[in-house]
Amino acid sequence: MTHDLTLPSDISGAEGLAERAERDPHRPRFHFTSPGGWLNDPNGLTHWNGVYHLFYQYNPLAPAHHRIHWGHATSTDLVHWTDEPIALVPGSDGPDRDGCWSGVLVDDGGVPTLVYSGRHGNRELPCVATGSADLRRWTKDPANPVISAPPRDLDATAFRDHCVWREGQVWRQLVGSGIRGVGGTAFLYESDDLRTWRYVGPLLTGDASQNRGELDWTGTMWECVDLFGIDDDTDVLIFSAWDEGTTYHPLYWTGRYQGDTFTPTALHRLDYGGRYFYAPQSTRDAHSRRIMFGWLQEGRSDAATARAGWCGVMSLPRVVTLGADGQLVQAPVPELARLRRDHVRVPAGPLDNTYTRLHSVRGDQLDIEITLRLAPGATARLVVRETPDGAERTVVEVSRLPTGGVLRLHREASGLDPSLDAEPRHGELPLSGDGLVDLRVLVDHSALEIFSNGRPLAARIYPTRPDEAVGVGISADGDVTVESFDAWRMAPAFTDGPRPLWP
Ligand code: FRU
Repeated sequence: MTHDLTLPSDISGAEGLAERAERDPHRPRFHFTSPGGWLNDPNGLTHWNGVYHLFYQYNPLAPAHHRIHWGHATSTDLVHWTDEPIALVPGSDGPDRDGCWSGVLVDDGGVPTLVYSGRHGNRELPCVATGSADLRRWTKDPANPVISAPPRDLDATAFRDHCVWREGQVWRQLVGSGIRGVGGTAFLYESDDLRTWRYVGPLLTGDASQNRGELDWTGTMWECVDLFGIDDDTDVLIFSAWDEGTTYHPLYWTGRYQGDTFTPTALHRLDYGGRYFYAPQSTRDAHSRRIMFGWLQEGRSDAATARAGWCGVMSLPRVVTLGADGQLVQAPVPELARLRRDHVRVPAGPLDNTYTRLHSVRGDQLDIEITLRLAPGATARLVVRETPDGAERTVVEVSRLPTGGVLRLHREASGLDPSLDAEPRHGELPLSGDGLVDLRVLVDHSALEIFSNGRPLAARIYPTRPDEAVGVGISADGDVTVESFDAWRMAPAFTDGPRPLWP
C-alpha cells in the first residue's frame, strides 16, 4: 500500500509561503530550513551509499505544528542540500492520520526502513515504512502500528520517538516515554523482523522529583532518545527532557549500556541554548564520525512566525566526540568551511578595556574563529549583529572566574521588540591552566551557534533593524590577549529563490 503523494485538495493556506519565507530577512541562508511552513525535529538521519539523508518533521501547509509530514533533503557534503519528495504523508485513515512523528531510518538487509511514531488523536504508536533503493518512495507497512500500546504494567505518560539498532541477530529499539509519578524513561524492545516486538523493560528511568527549575531537570518524559557508543568504554544516551508547557531541553547521560540496562556515570547538558537545540538525532557516517543535528526552535511570537511563512531551523551538522573530561565535544563539520568567503584576519595582541568596533568584519552571515588567552578574573566579549547606534546587539561572553570558566550569551538587546525571547543563556566552560579559549561564532541571520572549548550554545536572535544590525566588535575586562582572530563571510547554501513546498 503506497500512500498518496498527491497534493491535498485544499492548499490555499499554503499559497505564497515559500515566497514569503524567501523574503524574510530573518531566514538563515546556510542552515537548512524547510522550503516554507513548519519544521521541527531531524529524523531518519543516515549516510546511505555516499549520500547524507536528512528527513525532518514538516508541515508544508502552514508555519504551525499540525498534521506533520516527513520532509526529505539530501546532500553529498553536509553543506548543500537538495529537496527530495516528501517521504511520509499522514494517512487518510490508519494510525498516522494525525501526523507522522519522529523516527529513524535503518538498513534492514539492504531495505531502507523507517521506524516512526504514527499519531492518531492524542496517542502515538510505532509504525514502519520501507523505501525504494533511492530512498525517494516510501510504503507504509499494512501491519502498522507494529506495537499496539505502551507497556501495560506501567502508567506511561507518552510513547513516541525511536532509536533502533542491530545487535547480533536481533533488532533493538528504544521508545521515549515517562512513568507517571516517577520520571522520564526509554522503553527497550526487541525484534527479529522490525514488525513483531517483545517488550524488555525500561532501559533507564529519571527522577522527576529532582526539579529545581534548572536546565538539567530530566523532566516527566524523554523525547527523541538516541543511544550510541562513543568509545570502547563509554556509551551515550541523549534525550530531550520534556514536561508539558514547562520543559524542553536536551540532556545526555554518559555511562555503560550492557545487557538490558544503561548504568549512568553522569548527566550533562547537551547544548547551553536549551530548547534552541532540541530533539537532536545523530548517525555514524561512512567516515566513522558521529554526526548530529538538532532543531533550533523559534524565539519570536507565533504571530510573527505566521507572517514570515516559515519557522524552525535545522542546526548546522555537528561532529561529536568524547573529551578527556568525559563530556561530549561538539564542533560544526569541517565541510562548512567550503562556504567561507572574504577572509579577514584581525591583528593579534592584548585587548584594551574599551569597546572596539571591527570595521573589517561585518555582516549577518559570518563565521568567526577566535583564540583568546584569559588571565584569572578576565572576561572577553564578542558583539555581533550590532546596529550603528549600538541599540541592538548580541553579546557572547567568556569568563575565567575563580569558580571556573563560563560561556554566556546576552540577548536582552538582540532585538528591541518586547515580544522576543531575550532570556540570557550560560554554561560551564572547560578551561585549562593557560586560560586559552577557542570561540567559534556562526551568525546566520536569526540563527546563532556558538562553540567554545567544545561546548555549544545555540540560540535565535531577531534584530528589528536587520539590515543595519551587521556590526561586530570586541572588548575585555581584565587581561585578555587575542591569540588569533579570523572571520569569513559565509556564502548561502541555497541560491535558487523560493523552493517548492511540495517537491
Ligand atoms: C520533539 C517532538 C517529538 C515528536 C515530534 C512531533 O520535538 O515533540 O517527541 O515525535 O516532535 O513533531
